[in-house]
Formats: sequence, structure tokens, C-alpha cells
Amino acid sequence: MLLRNTLADHGRPLDPADAAALGPGAAAEVERFLATREGHAETPLVALPGLARRLGVAALHVKDEGHRLGLGSFKALGGAYAVIRLAVEAASRRLGRPVALADWRRPEVAEAAAGLTVACATDGNHGRSVAQGAQLVGAGCVIFVHAGVSAARCEAIARFGARLVRVAGSYDDSVVEAARQAEAHGWTVVSDTAWPGYERIPLLVMQGYTALLAEALRRLPAPPTHAFIQAGVGGIAAAGAAFFSEALGDRRPHLTVVDPSRAACLYESARAGHPVTVPHGAPTVMAMLECHAPSLVAWRILARAADAFMTVEDEDAVEAMRRLARPVDGDPAVVAGESGGAGLAALLRVAGDAAQREALGLGPDARVLLVNTEGATDPARYEELVGLAPAAVA
Ligand SMILES: Cc1ncc(COP(=O)(O)O)c(C=O)c1O
Repeated sequence: MLLRNTLADHGRPLDPADAAALGPGAAAEVERFLATREGHAETPLVALPGLARRLGVAALHVKDEGHRLGLGSFKALGGAYAVIRLAVEAASRRLGRPVALADWRRPEVAEAAAGLTVACATDGNHGRSVAQGAQLVGAGCVIFVHAGVSAARCEAIARFGARLVRVAGSYDDSVVEAARQAEAHGWTVVSDTAWPGYERIPLLVMQGYTALLAEALRRLPAPPTHAFIQAGVGGIAAAGAAFFSEALGDRRPHLTVVDPSRAACLYESARAGHPVTVPHGAPTVMAMLECHAPSLVAWRILARAADAFMTVEDEDAVEAMRRLARPVDGDPAVVAGESGGAGLAALLRVAGDAAQREALGLGPDARVLLVNTEGATDPARYEELVGLAPAAVA
């Protein structure tokens, strides 16, 4: 289902704080920080000219975040960045003088971080990033996982030395429990979702994501005319909307936010005209997108700077994974996890529907950007769905 953004806020300038936090200047700072991280490398921007031709568009590029910092998803950019920034800020407070982000490896930051414990809820990827950031600076870390987080995803988090706490119920229940326990123990919540009175840290997490957008824009032969970005709580989609608005102004791409139909909190919020919590139903295969309430910061940005909201079905997501694994006409293969291919799932739907193409202005000159937000972060699940082991694909 597709809904054009007809909200009263659509087209209004961004809140200045959001614009500053997510614009090209902030992205450049994140990139300077990333250059100090061991194992950092720009992720590939993959051109798929064969698939573009078949879909009747001029160009199709996929920013492949499966290769990000050894964690397999774009989330590697957000949580770890926020944790390290918080540790640097703690050191500044302790010393009573500014400490530069680039100095995050210095002993005074480690000393300050030793007194810091960070906590968050996760579907898997965000927690892995927070745990990695905590390990890098030597902070304590407690990660809350709901019943649906697979053993493989939990092990990947525990590998960074984090303590895991299982919470009965859904992702949203784990968010509440993380906040409750953090309050009781004096831990700092590093959440990728914002709620009333809690905005700064989620905005830092989103700021971390802007690096991938800056990288993509730099490598694209021409700015994209269209982007389809998948949403859990809306953080990466909103980072995209804000970054492109600030970097490109009126030439920003037409941005469609893509939700799984089984957890369509952004789509339903757009329909209602305000943020809504959607009921819990059957789980979606797009496990990382299974969020039932939008991030309030993300919503504030998307209401102004997203152009359409869309839902895709589980079978669309699996089809997208398979299309990326078995490319056509000499295109390279891309390993996309269950949530990673959701942007392509939306494009495939729109491309095959004349009315939707028209609604989005997706014509033969369109240059489309997608973000493969994760690789095979759960390899066994990937093989089950695609019929090939990740290593056999790329
Ligand atoms: C692989 C992947 N894609 C997309 C998303 C959605 O990001 P957001 O919750 O910022 O909308 C997530 C969130 O965890 C994710 O892990």
C-alpha cells in the first residue's frame, strides 16, 4: 500500500536542531571520527544496471551496509558512535575542559568511561553496535532483548562483552524495561528511538548513520531522484530525509519510507496524521523492522521531509533478497538480510504498478538509491529463505 505525504507539515523546513545534527557538516564530522576506527572502510555502492533496465528506470544503486565495520549492518554506525561520544563528553565533564572526539582513545576517556554503563533494547543490530562502542571505550553495557531475538543475534552481542537481559514480550516491551532498569541503576540509555523528553541520544545515533548517506552521495554519478528507505522506528529513513534535504535542497530525492505491513507504525502514523502505536500481530520476516511505535524525532523529520509511506509484505522482502542474490544481465550479487532488501521490495512493487509509478513520478529517467541495511546477520535464516549460503552468493 502506498500513501503520498499529505500531512500539513510536508515541505516545512526542518527543525534547526535536526537539520544541524543530520546535515552534511555533521556527516563530515562522523566520517572524520570513522577514519580513526580500526577496520573502517567505506561500504560498497553497487550499481545494478541490469535490474534498472528491467524495472524501467535509468539507474539503480544499492549502498551495501552488509560490510559495515564487521557488524553486518548500518547500525554499526549509530550506537557505537553515540556511546563513544558520550564517553568523550563524560571525560570533558570530569576534566573541566573540552575533549575532541578524535581523542576518544586517550586514557582520560577510558577513565571516564569506566564509570559509565550504557543500556538499550534491541532487535539485534543496534545492541551489537552499542556493545561494540562500550567495549571500545571500556564502558559497562547491558542489552535488553525480547523473546523474538534469535540465539545467533544474542551471541553476536555477547561477543562484545555485554550483559544480556531477556525480556518477555515484544521489542517495545524491551524498550520500556531497558529504560526502567537504567533509571533504577543509574545507567545511560543509548536508544535508537526517541520519546517525549528523550531526544538527544537518539539524534546522536541517527547522526552516526549520516556517514553512509554522505559516502553514497559522493560516489553516485548523479544525485538520486528517488530513494526507498526501510523503517523500524524511522531513524535511518529520517536521517536520509534530513541529510538529503540539507545537502541537496530542492534537488533532494523523492523519499519513500518503507514499512513491513505487519509492523507499519510510520505508514499508520502518516495515515492518522500523528504518531500512533500499532497493535502487535504476527511476527514479520523483516525482524529488524518489527517496531510498533515510531521514534518521535524520526517522525518529526519524516512528516516534513518524506514524500510517501509504503508497506511491503513478507513475501516481497524474501523476493527482494532472492533477486539480489541471483542477479540478472551481469549485475553483481548483493547479500541482503531479511530487513536489508525491504527498499528493493518496495521498488519492485511500485515499478510493476502504473498508478504507483505515476504517483511517485518514477519514470524512465529515475535514478534510484536503496540501502541494503544489513547483510546476512543471521546466516542460517538467510540460507533458509534464499536457498543459498551467504558465502555462495558473494
Ligand atoms: C537491518 C536494519 N534495517 C533497518 C532498520 C530500521 O532502522 P530504524 O529503526 O532506524 O528505522 C534496522 C533497525 O534496527 C535494521 O537493523
